Amino acid sequence: MSKNMLISNANQVVTMAGHSVNPAKKEAMSHLNVIENGSIWIENGRIVEVGPDDVIREKYKIQISSAEQVDATNKTVTPGLVDPHTHIVHAGTRENEYAMRLQGKTYMEIMEAGGGIHATTRATQEASFDELYKESKKRLDKFLLHGVTTVEAKSGYGLTLEHEIKQLEVAEQLQKDHPIDLVSTFMGAHAVPLGDKKDPERFVDRVINEMIPEVAKRNLAKFNDVFCERGVFTPEQSRKILEAGKKHGLIPKIHADEIEPYAGAELAAEVGAISADHLLKASDEGIQAMAKAEVVGVLLPGTAFFLMAEFAKARRMIDAGVAVALSTDQNPGSSPTISLPFIMNLGCLKMGMTPEEVLTATTINAAHAIGFANEVGSLEAGKKADITIFDVPNYLTLSYQYGMNHVDTVIKNGKPLVVGGRLHELSLSDA
Ligand code: NIG
Ligand code: FE
Repeated sequence: MSKNMLISNANQVVTMAGHSVNPAKKEAMSHLNVIENGSIWIENGRIVEVGPDDVIREKYKIQISSAEQVDATNKTVTPGLVDPHTHIVHAGTRENEYAMRLQGKTYMEIMEAGGGIHATTRATQEASFDELYKESKKRLDKFLLHGVTTVEAKSGYGLTLEHEIKQLEVAEQLQKDHPIDLVSTFMGAHAVPLGDKKDPERFVDRVINEMIPEVAKRNLAKFNDVFCERGVFTPEQSRKILEAGKKHGLIPKIHADEIEPYAGAELAAEVGAISADHLLKASDEGIQAMAKAEVVGVLLPGTAFFLMAEFAKARRMIDAGVAVALSTDQNPGSSPTISLPFIMNLGCLKMGMTPEEVLTATTINAAHAIGFANEVGSLEAGKKADITIFDVPNYLTLSYQYGMNHVDTVIKNGKPLVVGGRLHELSLSDA
């Protein structure tokens, strides 16, 4: 059991309070509920109270002397960041394709020639459980170092029952062993395997009749995701796969309108997806439909940046009433980064979001995108003590001094896991 803890005297505590039941939309995305000179009292890994330093010190003065203390003077405290869309469980890298794209080849051309997702699928199928586990764990450690305490992780580089299960079991084991909270998504419909190109429906049948029931039976995933894109899965195939998942208790998510407009946003609204992700080419009708159906829009500006594509229309979505979240999309092909703070920078500089909106989008709205806002995403009494302390005097500086890691301390379930910008090995091993 972790000790009681006092985090004291932060220049700013960005609480994000008040958005736990419903995600923040429109102007509410700018309501951060900041406490100046703020402190946080933590017991048994949970937040008990957040308030002005003098108030907290007075109220808990008897317990404070025996508690662990973290001085946050001159620093900015936020909820532990939440990344709601990653492909961290995979083997290998694709820097060769990066070089090809810099010479003018497109992402889809490389995939159609058997590279892209297919290349990572080959590497992931060949990797043993232990190899996959080690590679993925390293990525999780790096996420922690960048202030992230909750991560969604997708399968989708197995593409056979055996290898999809292997990926999801790696995520399950990491959820047990690693202090970061992992939320798993089944994404068997990430690509049509090269051997099924002539008859994609056969593969769709396997996803529906073989993979989904087994994944659900073993309780290996909470969500079911599909790459709905021209040349990958059609809207009709995607609908069938998402509806089949629903019958087995898997909540739909969609990779929607990433490369071409393909009515993915509309489909997300129709099937009641918890989120539609990417949305670079989402139509105005699709955006309206998402707002109405309360589908969270998960934007991945790192992917647009890395694929040198047009950015998603974040402003239009927020103004239309879509709750927007941000994510890295961590994967070896279209977004090989783990820096969610850099994604926040891109949100401001490339998608017209405000520094307030990008914080909302990487904390409480990101938590809503993975159905976890009852536990994480804000600093409020009763929530997990998942807290990031940045070595900057105010949150504005986070989106101003870009491309560098400002994380000083990361606390997960009330335990310090990153201290002074470095992994704190002792707490990692007993976390
Ligand atoms: O979200 N679009 C499909 N899937 C990933 C990329 C996966 C890969 O290239 O390996 C994405 O961009
Ligand atoms: Fe993705």
